[in-house]
Amino acid sequence: MKKEEKQYLYQIRNVAFSYTLGAHHIQAIHDISLDIPQGALVTFSGPSGSGKSTLLNLLGLIEPVQKGEILFQNQNVAEMNQQQLNNIRKYKIGFIFQQFHLIPVFTAEENVAYFLARQGLPKEEIKSRTRDALESVGLWEHRMKKPSELSGGQRQRVAIARAVAKHPEVIIGDEPTASLDQKTGKEVMQIFDYLVHEKKVSVILTTHDKMIQSYSDKNFHIQDGVLDTNHI
Ligand SMILES: Nc1ncnc2c1ncn2[C@@H]1O[C@H](COP(=O)(O)OP(=O)(O)OP(=O)(O)O)[C@@H](O)[C@H]1O
Ligand SMILES: [Mg+2]
Repeated sequence: MKKEEKQYLYQIRNVAFSYTLGAHHIQAIHDISLDIPQGALVTFSGPSGSGKSTLLNLLGLIEPVQKGEILFQNQNVAEMNQQQLNNIRKYKIGFIFQQFHLIPVFTAEENVAYFLARQGLPKEEIKSRTRDALESVGLWEHRMKKPSELSGGQRQRVAIARAVAKHPEVIIGDEPTASLDQKTGKEVMQIFDYLVHEKKVSVILTTHDKMIQSYSDKNFHIQDGVLDTNHI
């Protein structure tokens, strides 16, 4: 019988990345190789400055591949043109940030719907996706509230709904619970857990927090720009 091929969302091979500041080069990632499975909750842990955000920006196609190879759904990112990169960022990746990045004058519902409207989706589709996304994070009854009328955890859930409504292949979040207290952070992680294991979305997060790691199917520990395979 033919062995079923394992589906990877990302395959990362010998990736290195440096920032240039004037005459200085800062080597943020030295040499990282790893595979990220589809449909899993994956976390990157590691001390401050270890290269977590840099790696996440590479996976989000925000930073260019300088050295090594990144395959997104078996496609080499370095071989994509600007249009392909833009389309993946726009349709396939949902981004979540530590500081939520919601539009303050919009309601929760408008914050979600606005990004779908920018994708040019039909009105009815926008309505139903917005409702589904807000329901999946338990915020439908708060849809008319503006960010200032919501708690920190609720704001982050609106941001998650906004990402979910895109129907992305992957949600990428750089320390999405860092500005929340432990209890609220747990509630947000339970939503990620539900999205991954019930809705089959892939989620990739960075974190400093052991509690967050406990929700992950797979954690990669990064230390000084390399993968630390001895760390538990
Ligand atoms: N835009 C930038 N320009 C120059 N150097 C940068 C830039 N962003 C990050 N660096 C440097 O690259 C290295 C890795 O930084 P990165 O932000 O990826 O680490 P991190 O693991 O996300 O840290 P933290 O946990 O504090 O968020 C650090 O030495 C940092 O100072
Ligand atoms: Mg960071």
